[in-house]
Amino acid sequence: MASAVRVLISEVNPGEGDVIRDILIRAGGFDPVAYAQDGLEAAQLAYRLRPDVALLWEDLAGLRGAEVCELVSRAAPDVACVMVTRAQTDEGRRAAMIAGARAVVSIDGLEMLPDVLNRLITVRRGMPLSALASVTEAAQAPLVVMVSSGKGGVGKTTIAVNVAVSLSQKGEKVVLLEAPGQLGDGAILLDVVPSSSFMSLVQMASLDNDLVTGSLIRHQSGVSFLPATSDQPTAELSQFDRVTTAAASSILGILKRSFSVVVIDCPSNLWPLASYLARRSHVVLLVGTPEDIVSVRNSATVTDLVRSAGVAKERLMPVVNKAAPSGFLKPEDVAKAAGWQDYLTIPFDPANCTAAMNEGVPLVTRTPNSPAARAITQLGERIVRRGRKIAEGVATEVGKEY
Ligand SMILES: Nc1ncnc2c1ncn2[C@@H]1O[C@H](COP(=O)(O)OP(=O)(O)OP(=O)(O)O)[C@@H](O)[C@H]1O
Ligand SMILES: [Mg+2]
Repeated sequence: MASAVRVLISEVNPGEGDVIRDILIRAGGFDPVAYAQDGLEAAQLAYRLRPDVALLWEDLAGLRGAEVCELVSRAAPDVACVMVTRAQTDEGRRAAMIAGARAVVSIDGLEMLPDVLNRLITVRRGMPLSALASVTEAAQAPLVVMVSSGKGGVGKTTIAVNVAVSLSQKGEKVVLLEAPGQLGDGAILLDVVPSSSFMSLVQMASLDNDLVTGSLIRHQSGVSFLPATSDQPTAELSQFDRVTTAAASSILGILKRSFSVVVIDCPSNLWPLASYLARRSHVVLLVGTPEDIVSVRNSATVTDLVRSAGVAKERLMPVVNKAAPSGFLKPEDVAKAAGWQDYLTIPFDPANCTAAMNEGVPLVTRTPNSPAARAITQLGERIVRRGRKIAEGVATEVGKEY
């Protein structure tokens, strides 16, 4: 059973405190911890006793209710101040809110007080402490990592799946989100059968935490997975006009509440929604290959697209995949054409990559010491290092390049 709500009661006229006390006792679940007879006493008691709620009359003697509210909000921010007003006016309500009150109740509505306090406390107690840490601790802020390219078939899904699995093995809480606009190959690489998907979610009238987390598939590696399409792709893809920025924002926002890393496998044809996802990402992987001249040209184009979407240079992490020493084009050719100074390479490793895909076992699990698996594992570590640095500065240095 939830513990009783501790309430500090105040009064201006003798007997007003008793009226409030009686209402709370009748409702049950409240513990009136003290009476304050004037404003200064109310502030002192709130600070000293740390009740869940301080009930402050607006016209307290000495310090007025709004002044007490401002003092308590600073001295004891964990105490929720609730203002009791003599009349129900917009002006009184506004003044109370500006002073930091969490709720306002008028003298005519005192019978509603238990209900108002219960709602206030439910919100406060219902918020998991992990949510607090993700706000206050940069190391626990959720990271968003987008895997993009200018051309199909360059290895985005291979990289997204294996970065997700390797970070999960290192203790991160990872969700792999397959952006819409593709059939989605993640389910094959993870050997899972999707019954719901990004596309099935966007058809819902409104999304909430239960709907989104209930649609995730949990892979044995610990990675949670939201595929682009379910086992009904034909019907779902005809609903593509429902894929709006608002829908993507809602899904991403909900996932960020439960996971420490969100990896987005983004198809190369998702613009302009891709620009929105890139702006919300701490790290944007730009995957190119030295396979042919088209791949090289498209790496340059997608780099320009992401930069012109307003994504700071330091958030970009270029990757040359399928790098082979004997190839016609070299990784440095891709980097030069795309203007990448700092890039990572993943070696061409067809035997292991293809076998992992066909067997539905992630490369980093199946052959962790294979050349491509080692490079992807290192890439995952680098993503988290860079992402956390960016997350630390993100709130205070808007517009600054990292
Ligand atoms: N480093 C690598 N060495 C050799 N083959 C690779 C490598 N990385 C990926 N591949 C292979 O390249 C092919 C395409 O990979 P993948 O599906 O990951 O690309 P993609 O960019 O996600 O493609 P799409 O644009 O169709 O979604 C697969 O056969 C995969 O096994
Ligand atoms: Mg893919």
